[in-house]
Amino acid sequence: MLTTLRIIIASLIMHLPNSISYAQEIDPGIATAHPLASKAGYEVLASGGNSFDAAVAISAVLSVVEPYSSGLGGGGFFLLYDSTSKDSVFIDAREKAPSNASRDMYLDNDGNVIRRASLDGPMAAGIPGLPAALHHIAKNHGTMPLYRLLQPAIRLAREGFPAYERLVTAVMIADKSKSLSPKFKEIFLPNDKAPIIGQIIRQPELAKTLEILASSGHAGFYDSFFTKAMVEESQRDGSIWEIEDFKSYSVIEREPIKLNFLGAELTMAPPPSSGGTTIGSVLNILSEFDFLGMSFSEKVHLITESMRRAFKDRAFYLGDPDFVDVPIGKLISKEYASKLAESINLDKATPIHEEDEIDGSIGWNEGAHTTHFSILDNNGNRAAVTQTINTWFGSGYMLPSSGLILNNEMDDFASKPLSPNSYGLIHGEQNSIQPNKRMLSSMTPTFIESDRGIAILGTPGGARIISMVLLSIIDYLTGGDAQSMTASKRFHHQFLPDVIRYEKDAFTNDVKEDLQMKGHNLQEISNYGNMQVVTFDNATGETESSSDPRGLIEGFEIDFY
Ligand code: GLY
Repeated sequence: MLTTLRIIIASLIMHLPNSISYAQEIDPGIATAHPLASKAGYEVLASGGNSFDAAVAISAVLSVVEPYSSGLGGGGFFLLYDSTSKDSVFIDAREKAPSNASRDMYLDNDGNVIRRASLDGPMAAGIPGLPAALHHIAKNHGTMPLYRLLQPAIRLAREGFPAYERLVTAVMIADKSKSLSPKFKEIFLPNDKAPIIGQIIRQPELAKTLEILASSGHAGFYDSFFTKAMVEESQRDGSIWEIEDFKSYSVIEREPIKLNFLGAELTMAPPPSSGGTTIGSVLNILSEFDFLGMSFSEKVHLITESMRRAFKDRAFYLGDPDFVDVPIGKLISKEYASKLAESINLDKATPIHEEDEIDGSIGWNEGAHTTHFSILDNNGNRAAVTQTINTWFGSGYMLPSSGLILNNEMDDFASKPLSPNSYGLIHGEQNSIQPNKRMLSSMTPTFIESDRGIAILGTPGGARIISMVLLSIIDYLTGGDAQSMTASKRFHHQFLPDVIRYEKDAFTNDVKEDLQMKGHNLQEISNYGNMQVVTFDNATGETESSSDPRGLIEGFEIDFY
């Protein structure tokens, strides 16, 4: 088997992959956004760890080698399936608002949103959740000690890794778009210069922080001398964090959302993710029509009209379920979908009603940050994980002594209800800022189980995460595979602004004409997303891992032994 593995791995090296799989009774599969993360996960599986062990190792490595996307200064959602108990659990490691936060903290005296106040610097940061998740998963779901699982990340932070194109681009975008803190610049822009490709990036302070987490676990990060130093440092630079905010932080195990569509069972992210309910609502609406019998253009129209309605509900009903009543049952019920379906005209786009005319002239966020990975182990345990620090390099602020890049997740709250955030998403009072509340998210780690097999999927991409996962679910359940799920062209509508955004070549000219005739506004945008999919086929027994071709990272020689 070792020889087979070496051959597969050799071919992967030639193609500089992000995803790997190998042959056993169930072939394990891993798809991540970075080859070094896939390697760390593979090594855990090869040394007897399960998917949950691998998830911890991969999560930590991505925090080091994809510092623009996610990290210990941020949060994430871990969807886990245990093949022994046959249960899925959703681990909510979302950041929460500091206890000193308040509803109008980002408004000026006239009640207007202060530009970039919820995006830049330590005031934009929620209390991080990712370190708590790593400890929790290793302790409660894994089989290996956290200390061991964090070693690859510690090594990469201390000894460094080579800069690659996406990282360099992210540094340049961050440098242009936000003010970066001195420590951040010392690591990523020494002498005010972005790294060149191949330059070794070392993060010694982050290595020490990972070591503290590795040796002292949750308490080491959330309730120790280290926590005190971190909070005092952030306060000196303007944060409103308190030590108590860390002491009281814990992950929450929640029931995932389950839904049936085209005979398959979907397991999806519940609030404070908006993904499961929004996708559930769209799929239920599609089920009210002869969706499979429609032409492509008719399908795009119906999916768009369904997204228009589901994203409107996202804006007005969704928030942290521990703080506000979220009518999940209603939003994913067949009865509600049937009511929404009645309002859809198959020949005409629904005009935005006057009362819904909220500023549609928002900016657009590329949505390539945040990261997702999918894992299947040889016992059939699964992990779908999406983690984030929000926009490129989060708040752009690095805590000097711990090397943590702080998230800017506070921007996922409604700074002012019905004012668009950096993804152009609007939110209502349900998602307004309250002390200790979790901000709404679009991250949507997902499992599909059908007669055909299983799929484990997710992607970064801000609001577009939801439509990307939706389109991939539809693709898989209508005959697509892991490759087509990651590679197919995408389109998106999010209620406001009232426009279908699509990738080049997503629509033929005929389809565009047809959609315009129906009254849709169209806008071509650059490619987006970085989906990571693992599938298992019941009939052939084959596992397929696929990383989004849009996100492939080149230049890494992978040595698995
Ligand atoms: N920060 C992006 C999201 O959670 O949706």
